[in-house]
Amino acid sequence: MKASQAWRLGIGDLQIMPAPRHRPHLKRPMWIIVLVSLVSMFLIGAYIYPSRGFAACYIFSSRGCKSFSEWLPPTPARELTDDELASHVFIKDILKMTPLQSRNPKIAFMFLTPGTLPFEKLWDMFFRGHEGRFSIYVHASREKPVHVSRYFVDRDIRSEKVVWGKISMVDAERRLLANALRDPDNQHFVLLSDSCVPLHTFDYVYNYLLDTNISFIDCFEDPGPHGSGRYSELMLPEVEKKAFRKGAQWFSMKRQHAIIVIADNLYYTKFKLYCKPGMEGRNCYADEHYLPTLFHMVDPAGIANWSVTHVDWSEGKWHPKSYRAKDVSYQLLKNITSIDQSLHVTSDERKEVQIRPCLWNGMQRPCYLFARKFYPETVDNLLQIFSNYTMK
Ligand SMILES: *[C@@H]1O[C@H](CO)[C@@H](O)[C@H](O)[C@H]1NC(C)=O
Ligand SMILES: *[C@@H]1O[C@H](CO)[C@@H](O)[C@H](O)[C@H]1NC(C)=O
Ligand SMILES: *[C@@H]1O[C@H](CO)[C@@H](O)[C@H](O)[C@H]1NC(C)=O
Ligand SMILES: *[C@@H]1O[C@H](CO)[C@@H](O)[C@H](O)[C@H]1NC(C)=O
Repeated sequence: MKASQAWRLGIGDLQIMPAPRHRPHLKRPMWIIVLVSLVSMFLIGAYIYPSRGFAACYIFSSRGCKSFSEWLPPTPARELTDDELASHVFIKDILKMTPLQSRNPKIAFMFLTPGTLPFEKLWDMFFRGHEGRFSIYVHASREKPVHVSRYFVDRDIRSEKVVWGKISMVDAERRLLANALRDPDNQHFVLLSDSCVPLHTFDYVYNYLLDTNISFIDCFEDPGPHGSGRYSELMLPEVEKKAFRKGAQWFSMKRQHAIIVIADNLYYTKFKLYCKPGMEGRNCYADEHYLPTLFHMVDPAGIANWSVTHVDWSEGKWHPKSYRAKDVSYQLLKNITSIDQSLHVTSDERKEVQIRPCLWNGMQRPCYLFARKFYPETVDNLLQIFSNYTMK
């Protein structure tokens, strides 16, 4: 923080110095030239050696340098392993690439479900009239789904068994992404479950996801037993404890991030081997930690840190609140769509509540496009009020 202040100051000062093409007039007193060169040498020095910028901070920052330790050189950089180096180079290049420009950008809706989707009729209503702007992929891990909507017919992908909390969950997510990436028009990828319902019109969702360049991946630091407590040092050296993050599985991500996910083998393998239920007496769930940790490490500014899928944990139980038919009302849906702050609670004894505004391109906006968990019995109520609650 302080180093970057000194750094910025250095650059700014350099810029307001006389540009070289106006060569200093010889008549000018020599001491000015000497002073200017001394100052610029100092500033260049502070720029090149920001971590040693203690003197710079001492001179230029009146707010002071509270802690000397901040100015100690950072611990010497670890030498990267071959895989890590390759992975860093690859990810950096992907992130710098301008995304494939599509004349007809689409959103991929990827459903992760055990079998038949109870809300297909509702989704049918949501998609109707927007043909050509979305693609659907269904990963049914237990039984072949029966489809009632023409948009879902023939959209099942090859699936494998998924065990809750195990790496097979992440494998299914990657399988969905790989299938959806085959269509170059797919620019944004949304993961949904069988208990998810849409909260807005298609147009609203389409613009919300495509008119920004970030991915909505839930991510926060939880120092408690259900967060960093699940970390295993066997993940070293590539994944350090301080980088370990947590977040809900239900992501939406841009194309570059989707490519990174299916290409990553290094970090994926760490989580596959060392983040699993019953690991060293702890339960680690790869689907809650792999993507948040990966993107926190490789592109922290590229993710929103909240998920666009709402879920209500406020009851403080093992499972989130699940809505019954009697719970579903216009008011409930309106309540959910009006939330514009994300909330995370740590699992340590402090139970710290972290509240952040949901910033979309810098503006505070409602956080959620979808919600879970709804029991299948709610479908009729939802169908009845869908066009009402999605109205502005
Ligand atoms: C997103 O776009 C904004 C403005 O166009 C830019 O400042 C920002 O760096 C971009 N972020 C990412 C992660 O590409
Ligand atoms: C998400 O959190 C990281 C810190 O973990 C931060 O650097 C980044 O700016 C946040 N993303 C947004 C969009 O605010
Ligand atoms: C909606 O929110 C209001 C205010 O927070 C609350 O009083 C009300 O009970 C909520 N209604 C439903 C149906 O959730
Ligand atoms: C939508 O639902 C609300 C609350 O039940 C009701 O007041 C309103 O009249 C409804 N609007 C339409 C267009 O049905």
